Amino acid sequence: MITGLDHIAIAVPDLEQSVKRFVEDFCLDCAGTEDVATAQTSTAFFPLPPTSIELVHPLNGAGPIAKYLEKKPGGLHHLCFRSDDIDADVERLKAKGYQFLTDAPYAGAHGARVIFIHPKSCDGVLIELSQPAMDH
Ligand code: CO
Repeated sequence: MITGLDHIAIAVPDLEQSVKRFVEDFCLDCAGTEDVATAQTSTAFFPLPPTSIELVHPLNGAGPIAKYLEKKPGGLHHLCFRSDDIDADVERLKAKGYQFLTDAPYAGAHGARVIFIHPKSCDGVLIELSQPAMDH
C-alpha cells in the first residue's frame, strides 16, 4: 500500500552548488549525501517533513540522470511514493498494465527497496516506489 510522499527529486548539473543553495538560501538541513551505484546517482537529501527533497546528480558522469541532463539543464525528475509492501504494490500495478523500468525492486538510497514506474504509464511523470529499510 502507498502510505506517503517519500520525496520529490530534482536533477541537478552541479550537486555541490545546489546543496549550497538548499542549505544557505533555503535554510534546509542536508541529511547527507550518498552515492547510489545501483542507480548511477549521487544524491543529497533534505528532510522537509512529512516528505524530503532529493537532489540527484550523475555518478561518474553516466547513467539515467546524465541522459536527462543532456536534454534539459536540470528539473523536476521524479516523485517517490513510500510503500509498506513494495512487492504487493508492484504485483498489483503490473496486473493493471503498468510498465516498470526494471523487473524487480532493487537497493536504492538508504538501503530502501526501490523501483521506477515508466513515465508513459503515468501521464509523463516518473514515479519511484520505495519501501524503507526498516520495514523489511
Ligand atoms: Co528518488
